[in-house]
Amino acid sequence: METLKEKYKDYFKGKKYNITTFGCQMNEHDSERISYILEDLGYKKTDDRKEADFILFNTCLVRENAELKLYGQVSSLKKLKAENPDKIISVSGCMMQTSTAREVIVGKHDEVDLVFGTKNINSLPDLIYRYLETGERVVDISTDDVKDDFVEYNNKNDFQAYVNIMRGCDNFCSYCIVPQSRGREESRRPSAILAECEHLVDQGFKEITLLGQNVNSYGNKADFDMTFPELLDRISKIEGLKRLRFTTSHPKDLSDELIEVIKNNDNICKFFHLPMQSGSSKVLKDMNRKYNQEKYLERAKKLKSEIPDLALSTDIIVGYPTETEEDFEETLKVCREVGFDQAFTFKYSPRPKTRAAKLEPIDDAIVQDRFDRLLDTLYPTFNEKNKKYIGKTVEVLLESESKNNDEVLTGRTDTFKLVHVKADKSLIGSFVKVKITDNTSFTITGELVE
Ligand code: 5AD
Ligand code: SF4
Repeated sequence: METLKEKYKDYFKGKKYNITTFGCQMNEHDSERISYILEDLGYKKTDDRKEADFILFNTCLVRENAELKLYGQVSSLKKLKAENPDKIISVSGCMMQTSTAREVIVGKHDEVDLVFGTKNINSLPDLIYRYLETGERVVDISTDDVKDDFVEYNNKNDFQAYVNIMRGCDNFCSYCIVPQSRGREESRRPSAILAECEHLVDQGFKEITLLGQNVNSYGNKADFDMTFPELLDRISKIEGLKRLRFTTSHPKDLSDELIEVIKNNDNICKFFHLPMQSGSSKVLKDMNRKYNQEKYLERAKKLKSEIPDLALSTDIIVGYPTETEEDFEETLKVCREVGFDQAFTFKYSPRPKTRAAKLEPIDDAIVQDRFDRLLDTLYPTFNEKNKKYIGKTVEVLLESESKNNDEVLTGRTDTFKLVHVKADKSLIGSFVKVKITDNTSFTITGELVE
C-alpha cells in the first residue's frame, strides 16, 4: 500500500514556508528543528508571509506580550487564508501546551489549521499528512516517543549549533510558566548528546551551545550516572571543538565542580549566565528561588575569583508583587557589588496558573520607575567592563553582517562580547584577531589584525 509519505512526495515541491518565533533560545532552537523537518520534506524558506504556502508561529509563554502579539498576527492572516484556502497556518510551541492559550487559538481563530506542542515536533510530517488527508484542523500536543533520537537539525548557520541536553523544569519559580508549558524535567541520555556533538564537530561546526532550563540539575532524576560538569567535560574533550557554551544555570545548584571544569578547559567559553531575578532575600524566598542574596553573591564571587577573565550575565525581574522599595534597593546593591557584563531585564508580568498570578500587582508607574533606575545602575557597569577591552587583541568568531553597515561584520568573543569590525563577508564563520579601539555599553569595536 502506498504510504502517506509516498502519496505526498511531490506535494511539497516548490512550496515555501515562513516561520515566526516568539521567545527564548530554547524556542529559537525548536524553530530550527521545525525548519529542518520542513526543508527535508521539500519546503523552501521565505521571509515573505504572503508568498508562503505554510505559515508557522512558534510561540513562547515566558512573557505576556508574546501572547497578545501572537493573537494579533494570527488574526491578520484571516483575509489571506480566506482568499487562499490552500495555505496552511500553524501555531506551535509552549503556548499551545497550556490549555488557556490553546483554547483561544482553537476557539477563536478558524484560520489556524495545525496546532502542535513542544514535545511532538518530530511528528510534524505526520501531522501535516493528517491535515492534507482530512482537510480538518489538527490539534495534537502529545509526546513523541523519539526524544532521544539522534536527529540532525538545521542550525543557525553552518558553524554554530545548539544541542538540547534536557527539557522541562521542576523548579516552579512562583512567577514562571515553564514547568506548566514545557512539563517536568527530563535529561537526554549522555550517549545521544555526545553522538550529536561529535557529529556536529565532524561536520565542521566550531561552536556548540548546550541548552536546558536548568543545566545544573542535568541527570538528577535520570537512570544514568552523569552530572552536568562531567557531561561538559566530556563534550569539551571532543577533538576539534573550538567553543563550548551552555545555558541556563540556576544559582541554587551551581557547583564548585562546574567552576573547575570551566577553568580547566580552554574551549569552554569564559562567560556565565547566572539569573539572579532579585537581590532581596525576601523576594527570592517569595519567588521560590531556593537561594538568598548571600548565596548568590558567594557563587558570583567564587566564579569571578576562580576564573578572572569571566564575563557574568544575569536575568532580573523588576516589580514582583511583594517587592518593596527596600527590596528593590537590595537588587541595585547586588548589581553594583557583582558588576554584571550584561543583563536581561524584565518587568514582572503575571502568567496564568502560576502562584504569583494570585498576588496583587504593583502599580505600573512604580514598576517603570524602578525599571529605569535599574538600567541606570547597570549600563555604566556594562560600559566600564567593555572599556577594559580597549587596546586588547581578542579572538572573535565572525557571525554575520552588521544590520546597519554591510562593510562591518559582527561576531563574539569567548566572553560573549558583541564585536563590530570592518571585514570581508567571506570571513563569516572564521575566527579572526581583532584589536579593540572603541566601545559602547553593548558592543566593542576594533580593527582586524593580520
Ligand atoms: N515576568 C517577568 N519576567 C519573567 N521571566 C520569567 N517569567 C517571568 C514573568 N512572569 C524572566 C526571568 C527568566 C527569563 C527567561 O524570563 O527572568 O529568567
Ligand atoms: Fe522558570 Fe524557575 Fe524553571 Fe527557570 S528555573 S524555567 S525561572 S521555573
